Amino acid sequence: MTARKIVFSGIQPTGDFHLGNYIGAVKRWVADQALHDNIFCIVDLHAITLYQDPNVLRAKIRQAAGVLLACGIDPQKSLLFVQSQVSAHPELTWLLNCVTPIGWLERMTQYKDKAAKQESVSTGLLDYPVLMASDILLYQTDYVPVGEDQKQHIELTRDIAQRFNNLYGETFALPEGIFPKVGARIMGLDDPTVKMSKSIATDQKHHAVGLLDSPDQVWSVLKRATTDSGKEIVFSDAPSKAGVNNLLTIYQALTDQTQIEIEKHFEGKLYGALKREVADVIIETLAPIQTRYNELMQDARALDAILQSSAEQAAARAAPTLRKAKEHMGFV
Ligand code: TRP
Repeated sequence: MTARKIVFSGIQPTGDFHLGNYIGAVKRWVADQALHDNIFCIVDLHAITLYQDPNVLRAKIRQAAGVLLACGIDPQKSLLFVQSQVSAHPELTWLLNCVTPIGWLERMTQYKDKAAKQESVSTGLLDYPVLMASDILLYQTDYVPVGEDQKQHIELTRDIAQRFNNLYGETFALPEGIFPKVGARIMGLDDPTVKMSKSIATDQKHHAVGLLDSPDQVWSVLKRATTDSGKEIVFSDAPSKAGVNNLLTIYQALTDQTQIEIEKHFEGKLYGALKREVADVIIETLAPIQTRYNELMQDARALDAILQSSAEQAAARAAPTLRKAKEHMGFV
């Protein structure tokens, strides 16, 4: 057997998981668990680069872990842990800070965007990409699946790794970013021209379906979903059909039927029926996830014990690389 590739994913514990995250990412992670050596990290240390209410953060970290486990991430097959519980992450960050020119960080577009919105910018916000580099480099990661917006951070990670390796000798593997295809994208239900997003969902009630939404909430979003003034229920790239196409894409992702089967199924039906049927497959998909989630959340101690044990495994996997980095730098 050839060695499985190490795939590292970082997940922000802010905002709520929605259907776009599930179809675009989580569903595939679950399906690919046997294929790759998957590492899922809930990046709570990244979250605090912008102020988080402590009680909200605490709840969101457990919620993110609970949702991922409920969706089928299996701690026997994948590593799923909370970043702040593995001190190798901030520890390596310090070492990498010392080889990272400040100009590299000031150039990051995400930093510039976020900083422009703040009155006072924390050192952590500037340092965010170095923490991200540490996450990735600690595990000798091969692949990092991320959105296009993270491309610059992945390139920076490679630059930092290369600079460290040049200065101190071969220490880190150079990771590669993987960027999901456009086809896997679920668009906003209120506005099918933008990708379904956590931040928009916080402000726009009818933008997304949350994975923990009740059947009534699902229907309330679906029945308002943007369609068009026509009546054809077909897959289409035409901008005017973006809403209908998005509904069909959701239906296809959740039923695993072919486009031809689906178009045939909806032939002659009205948009109202399409919305109802899409809502029903969403509700059916979410029901077992929510049942499992509620079970997990009822026993916070058991959940914390799962996380504790994963954090220990993550620490053990990170340790050799951290030790090597420290040795190479000259620590005793
Ligand atoms: N910056 C990433 C995002 O906002 C989250 C993240 C943190 C991450 N550490 C990571 C992603 C390591 C991939 C690998 O999406």
